[in-house]
Amino acid sequence: MTPVLEAKQVRKKFGGVVALADASMTLEKGEVCGLVGANGSGKTTFARIISGLIKPDGGELYINGSKVDLQLGFEAEQFSIALVHQNLSLVPEMTIWENINLGREDTGRLGFVQIDKAVNKAHEALKELAPHLSVYERVKNLSPSQKQLVEVAKALSKHPQILILDEPTASLSFDQVKRLFEIINKLKKQGTSIIFISHRLPEVTEICDRLVVFRDGCSVGVIEREKINQEEVVFLITGKRGEEIGKVKAKPESGETKADTVLEMEDVSLGDSKEGINLQLKRGEIVGLGGLQGQGQGKILLILGGLLSPTTGNIKIEGKSVVIRHPRDAIREGMFLVPGDREREGLFLPHTVFFNLIYPQFSQRETKFFLPWKELESEANRIIDMVALVPPDKNMIVSNLSGGNQQKVVIGKWLAMSPRILLLNDPTKGVDVETRANFYQIVQDLAQKGASVLFYSTDTDELVANCDRVLILFEGKITQEICGEELCKERLLEASLRGGDIAEN
Ligand SMILES: Nc1ncnc2c1ncn2[C@@H]1O[C@H](COP(=O)(O)OP(=O)(O)OP(=O)(O)O)[C@@H](O)[C@H]1O
Ligand SMILES: [Mg+2]
Repeated sequence: MTPVLEAKQVRKKFGGVVALADASMTLEKGEVCGLVGANGSGKTTFARIISGLIKPDGGELYINGSKVDLQLGFEAEQFSIALVHQNLSLVPEMTIWENINLGREDTGRLGFVQIDKAVNKAHEALKELAPHLSVYERVKNLSPSQKQLVEVAKALSKHPQILILDEPTASLSFDQVKRLFEIINKLKKQGTSIIFISHRLPEVTEICDRLVVFRDGCSVGVIEREKINQEEVVFLITGKRGEEIGKVKAKPESGETKADTVLEMEDVSLGDSKEGINLQLKRGEIVGLGGLQGQGQGKILLILGGLLSPTTGNIKIEGKSVVIRHPRDAIREGMFLVPGDREREGLFLPHTVFFNLIYPQFSQRETKFFLPWKELESEANRIIDMVALVPPDKNMIVSNLSGGNQQKVVIGKWLAMSPRILLLNDPTKGVDVETRANFYQIVQDLAQKGASVLFYSTDTDELVANCDRVLILFEGKITQEICGEELCKERLLEASLRGGDIAEN
């Protein structure tokens, strides 16, 4: 059968940077083909080229057997292709329904937008993905995962022949992923062809019929369904056969019992819950925040990071009450937040990697005039090395980095500052398998040296691998604590789903 899409030897350079050197792939009707590769290996660039958003320097593209003139340019709609962008493309000031219909508004005879029709279309697209989300909500008020779901709904509402999902699950929790996978499977049965890009290898293994692997801008392998196993995939992605890569090392057993309490939250209210949050974090402890997405985990971190003011309650650091009204207050206490929304809270996108990396140090120094530039430069290079930034260039403008490499900048700047308390808000989304393992190691090392870590993640495997104990949240309250032998994926999933039952009793 003729493939729905066939791309051959696609090439693309941005200035001196080779994004794609020799990338090929085919996509059959009704197939889910995974596209995997390290950060910066060219996946997003490829997705943008086959959706007509950028022109390649060379290569061929066939859709349903007909050759597309790539140099002429084309619109994705022409070939019924819809792309779910990695860096979301929504307009924050607009509502969900306006975003979903943007550019495709149905107009009546007099040229007015038919609002009822547009609202219905949005509702239809969103109802299975996020049944509780109102289409009248403005996008700027949504969490990263809600925005992601709207972005997917926007693509679904076009009923495409080819659906390209560029890391659709990076900020989704397991229940949202499950719903998305049900939809993917349904679309597949209806004959839609899907390209699924992700760094979460267990998900890729679950949903894909076939995998294409990119390395350094080249397609280096295809793995058929029956041969998809994590070890082989990691080998093709990294080019290394390492016992350690991709596998998370067991948490080191600390000999001493963790005694000193470093951080306490006493009855801190998040405004939307009658009861406050009570939690304690000990020296050297890594405590996870689990539960379904959006149960108040992010708010706890934002309060501690100085980005949200609690309405009531008390925060103590090493026994002393502290007032945290601004990120500066948190930073002064050695409490650093690795944010969840890298574009909004974490990065100065139009600036260089260097500026982004040294900014926190800059804001901490007494004088802003006589800065030891040489020292700061070598510090920036050290961080670039530590997080394995690609390309390892401190003068690169951050918006030109691939998604995962942007996230490495967010992570790197705080890890490098010897935190006393580290607040991680879903830090590894979009980060590749090797860098992830490297990042876990850095966090474990910091904890060994006495840092305390509060770790929110939408990735349950990540919580199990890193945390001493996990607190399950439900509607802004901590409903359970899971530790020791109980701390496994199944138990976490069960506790998250049962959060409601317990909270109601
Ligand atoms: N507009 C641009 N200007 C300069 N370089 C770019 C631009 N867009 C992409 N690149 C570079 O091209 C390379 C490939 O980037 P791409 O975004 O395709 O990677 P990716 O595989 O999607 O990575 P990730 O997993 O991190 O999302 C990277 O080195 C990136 O820095
Ligand atoms: Mg990408």
